[in-house]
Amino acid sequence: MKRGPAITYPKDAATMLMMMDVMEGDCVLESGSGSGGMSLFLSRAVGAKGSVLSVEVREDHYTIAVKNYRTWRTSWASRRGQEWPDNVQFENTDLCTASSILTGQGFHSVALNLNSPHLVLPSVLPHLHPGGICVLYIVNITQVVDLLEDIRCSALPCLCERIIEVPVRDWVVTPTQKRNGEYFTIKAPHLDESLRQKDEISDESEDDDVGPSFRSIPYIARPHPEQHSYTAFLVKLRKLES
Ligand SMILES: C[S@@+](CC[C@H](N)C(=O)[O-])C[C@H]1O[C@@H](n2cnc3c(N)ncnc32)[C@H](O)[C@@H]1O
Repeated sequence: MKRGPAITYPKDAATMLMMMDVMEGDCVLESGSGSGGMSLFLSRAVGAKGSVLSVEVREDHYTIAVKNYRTWRTSWASRRGQEWPDNVQFENTDLCTASSILTGQGFHSVALNLNSPHLVLPSVLPHLHPGGICVLYIVNITQVVDLLEDIRCSALPCLCERIIEVPVRDWVVTPTQKRNGEYFTIKAPHLDESLRQKDEISDESEDDDVGPSFRSIPYIARPHPEQHSYTAFLVKLRKLES
């Protein structure tokens, strides 16, 4: 997918869906659309009976998101032989002043990935169902602190239930090889002849019909030296009953 602004990374998007408790048929709000990365996850999660409203303030980002969404639907249709439901509506406007678009919708959950999310919460929360979840994707922990302080000072009707990050560690698991490309082999331990009596040693591998080379090569298994680094914090807010 061609990107403009940084996407919500898949490891985080998947966790956000769980935090939001998105169900098939849900009506979900997302902002900003950015490159449309999160929009695709939401589109799949709500399915044919659901809908996603994706709001983006910048026209260039809006254009990228719409294009990526269209490309994804086209590729889905060519791979699966059927249309993916057109369930995402993109709007090019500022979420802070988008009440005319939000009015009357009633969202089951909300996903926010934008700077200064505390500025948009007063416009968003009235349209979230009581008990519904708003998950915010926030890069700096100082922004999380600002958000919580703003919720407290403005007495916004929501409760912060959780703040997490999603670490994923890649590993290298591979047979060990010599410089010439040959594999190392595991050397059998040297055992005293007296211990080789059949009654005293049971060598299960002799009975297994798996071929002589099975488990004869040592592996290395360690965290990959090049790791994806930190991405963002995921903040879960629940709207309180008014
Ligand atoms: C990091 S990008 C979002 C990426 C997106 N989640 C994805 O997966 O592709 C943040 C976007 O929020 C938009 N944005 C910032 N403030 C906004 C606002 N008040 N209303 C709507 N969009 C806003 C920015 O223009 C930017 O495109």
